[in-house]
Order: sequence, then structure tokens, then C-alpha cells
Amino acid sequence: MFTHAFAADPYPAYAWLREHAPVHRTVLPSGVEAWLVTRYADARETLADPRLSKNPLHHSEAAHGKGKVGIPGERSANLMTHLLNIDPPDHTRLRRLVSTAFTPRRVAAFEPRVRELADRLIDGFAGRGRADLIHEFAFPLPIYAICDMLGVPAEDQDDFRDWAGMMIRHGGGPRGGVGRAVKRMRAYLADLIHRKRGDLGDDLISGLIRASDHGEHLTENEAAAMAFILLFAGFETTVNLIGNGTYALLRNPGQRRLLQDALAAGDTGLLRTAVEELLRYDGPVELATWRFATEPLTIGGQRIGTGEPVLVVLAAADRDPDRFGDPDTLDLTRRDNPHLGYGHGIHYCLGAPLARLEGRTALSSLLGRLPDLRLAADPAELRWRGGLIMRGLRELPVEFEP
Ligand code: HEM
Repeated sequence: MFTHAFAADPYPAYAWLREHAPVHRTVLPSGVEAWLVTRYADARETLADPRLSKNPLHHSEAAHGKGKVGIPGERSANLMTHLLNIDPPDHTRLRRLVSTAFTPRRVAAFEPRVRELADRLIDGFAGRGRADLIHEFAFPLPIYAICDMLGVPAEDQDDFRDWAGMMIRHGGGPRGGVGRAVKRMRAYLADLIHRKRGDLGDDLISGLIRASDHGEHLTENEAAAMAFILLFAGFETTVNLIGNGTYALLRNPGQRRLLQDALAAGDTGLLRTAVEELLRYDGPVELATWRFATEPLTIGGQRIGTGEPVLVVLAAADRDPDRFGDPDTLDLTRRDNPHLGYGHGIHYCLGAPLARLEGRTALSSLLGRLPDLRLAADPAELRWRGGLIMRGLRELPVEFEP
């Protein structure tokens, strides 16, 4: 595991684990030992198990100052108090507060803006006959979209693009630039929140400032941490949904034709099941984020000790033949599809409605505008980004009639 060949196609290794060692203790490239949970039923149960904490301080190694989990630079930047790192009751309070600002209505109203962004990006390369869809499309779309939604002024959005680029290029690894990018982002967000407090608008940051629950408000630090996690959780994931999704379509021409014909006929029903199937088949989040046992427990018959880290392998669970018929086949019409691509339980993806909207818009714009889109590289030569949690391509060269 964790080799170049594994990054290109981890599914055979996951199939082996599911069959022979469904809850498997492994040593990660960072040297930390963790349990991998690969079967669907165990994965779903584990994600919702309150005996597993999200707080890295529960890690047995953290107690000895050796903890190596979390986002680099995050601790120093004081952004620890975000949703993915906390447990109830704090999680319940913060999630309720942010949910009052990040509403399905706000997301739905954003659709024309996302389509406009997608069209503008496609305009940038449509005349050229070739493009790298990661750098020119999948990467900028979500960062501009979330910046718009948060209320980051247009003239500052390229800074965010650069900081996000730094974070994604280093795959969350412990290299210097990431910490600096996170720090700048945090300083910028803190300042923006401060400025908006005196001049509330329609944007999500104003919504976060306004959010209150039983008279409680987010503190300024909580609002900054929340804005940061929305950016951080909503960015690389969506890049990978667009990248992995387009790649899967290009490699499955029959399925791609089905979708393209449906879209040309004005039928958007298939687009909805297609985005869910692409999430199941080759989703953006390979492993759910870290969880730590707060007491001894058993998963799939395996004893886990207090403080031991548990990683749920979403990519393995979502191809479990005990839950999905013909799991290694991409079937855009699949209806019985309770995939774990957005997680499960109290940490279920808060941004799922926005991610779905971006996925649908990106794919329909691309296939509509560039109907003869084709891969311009040997699949064996494509490079996948390293990093433990996410799964995504470094580049996706394509060609088409200009
Ligand atoms: C949580 C996947 C897009 C915000 C999660 C989790 C997954 C996930 C698997 C749970 C992680 C765990 O339990 O360890 C995805 C995928 C996306 C996507 C596949 C794109 C296709 C977004 C977007 C946003 C977002 C666009 C926001 C703008 C969040 C937040 C959490 C989260 C805030 C933490 C929720 C909590 O802890 O209560 N996401 N996500 N995500 N996601 Fe997403």
C-alpha cells in the first residue's frame, strides 16, 4: 500500500482487505499506526459511533507529544475549533449555528452564479482545442464559488486561489508553504469578519456573524474557524469530484454517451443519479478523517484499544459487494445508492448540497459545451496527488474540437 501503483488504483488492494482483513492495523507513511475499516456495514457503524472522538487530543500518541494528525499550521493558527475536530456538545452547538447560515435555500439560489463561473472558465480554453481540466477548470471553480458565497470581494479571490493552490500542491504535507498559506488565510478571514461585523450583507460570513441559537453567537474565532473549514473542506473535495468524475466518464464511453444524450434531450434526472454514482465509484474522499477510540471497543470482531486511531476507508466501503451490486461497474442509472462519499452520522458533509450543485453544473457545462471531449494522455501516465485522506488527479489533459 501507499505506493505509486496503489495511488493510481487502490481498489484491488481494498478488495483484498475487505475480504481477508476487513479491520486492519497498518503503519502509515508518517509512521503513525492506525486501524483501517473497509467493509460497508462496519464503516457505516463506525462513522456514527459516539465512542469514537474527532478530537486529536484523544490520540494515544498525542498524549506523549507525538501526535502527527491534523492540518499543518492549524494548531498555531488557532483554527482547531472547527467541526471536523470536535465532539458533542460543542459540535452540536456549532453545527446548529452554521446550519442557520448555510441553508439549502442559500445554496440553491447560487446555481446561476456557479453556471456563470463554469462558462467563464470554459471560455478561457474552449478556443484552444486542449486544456488541463484540473488547473483550468476543476481547481478554480470551487475556490471562486466558495469565495463568492462567503463574501470575499472579487479583487481578493486570486489570493485565495494562490493559498489554496499551495495547500493542495503539498497535499496537506508538513512543508513550510502550507503553514504560511493557512496563516495568511486565517489573518485575512479574521480581518474580513471584523470588517463585515460593521457592515452586514447577504453573504455567508454575514450569515455566520448573524447566526444565533438561544441567544448564543459564534465568537470571532469560531466564525473564522468556520469560514476556514468551509473553504478547506469544500475545496479539494470538489476539485476531485469534478476531476475524478470527468475522468471516469471519459474512461466509460457508453455511460458518458448515455449522460450526454440525456442532457441534450433536456433530461436532467440522470445527472442527479450520475453525480451520486461518480461519488461512489471514485469519490474525492478516500478515507474519512481521523477518529480516536475513547474506550476499548470492537469493530468487525477486532478489538481496538483506547486512544488508537481509526480510519474509515470510504473508497473500500463504497465498492463492497455485500452492499452494492456489480460494485466495480460505473452505472449512472444506479438508484439504490446509499454511498458513504459524504460520510455518515453527525459529521455528515455539511456542504453536500453545494457539492452536488457544483458537480452537476460542472459536468453538464463541460459535456454541453465540449461534446467531443476526450482524454489526451495515456491513463497509465496520469499522476495522482499523494496524501492520505483525499483522492484526486494532479492533471487531466483533454482535447476537443475548438
Ligand atoms: C464533512 C465529503 C464538499 C463542508 C465531510 C465528510 C466527508 C465529506 C466524507 C465527513 C468526514 C468525516 O466524517 O470524517 C465531501 C465531498 C465533497 C464535499 C465528497 C465534494 C464532492 C464540501 C463542500 C463544503 C463541505 C463544498 C462546504 C462548502 C464540509 C464540512 C464538514 C464536511 C464543514 C464537517 C461537518 C461536520 O463535522 O459536522 N465532507 N465534502 N464539504 N464537509 Fe464535505
